[in-house]
Amino acid sequence: MSGAVLDADRVVAALRGAFTHDTGRQGLLQLAAERIRAAGAPYTSVYLYMLHGAELVLEAWSGRDTDHSRIPVGTGVCGTAVATGEDQNIGDVTAVGNYLACNLDTRSELVVLIRRGAAILGQIDVDSDAVNPFTPAEEAAVRQVADALAVLL
Ligand code: SME
Repeated sequence: MSGAVLDADRVVAALRGAFTHDTGRQGLLQLAAERIRAAGAPYTSVYLYMLHGAELVLEAWSGRDTDHSRIPVGTGVCGTAVATGEDQNIGDVTAVGNYLACNLDTRSELVVLIRRGAAILGQIDVDSDAVNPFTPAEEAAVRQVADALAVLL
């Protein structure tokens, strides 16, 4: 995706390569988290939350640890994405009331849903230490990875 820090084509190629070498769900989610974070700033930490009933469960991540290993649908920015069916691009987390803080350095958050047809499988949650860093190009790049995962998982 031109203009984006995240080179989604490369991440998707890595995911497809791993898939053809029999990498399973856990490995693909971990690879996605690591490859996205490897893009560097503004990508600080990447969390793959997958939907299990009415809860999002943290299945893979790269970057800072989080206490939020399970998030009910409707709670926080992550749970709001599932409840509304809409990606969330929060430029300044201090400005929203429903933010679940993991640490004090995170300033912004991007949540892109992983969808297969009408079904929501989970989400890619990106934290950044920068304010308002996720341009439409970054959003599109993360969405490209999410769409690839929806096919490969
Ligand atoms: N900030 C998220 C919780 C997940 S952590 O950022 C990893 C939220 O508000 O839902």
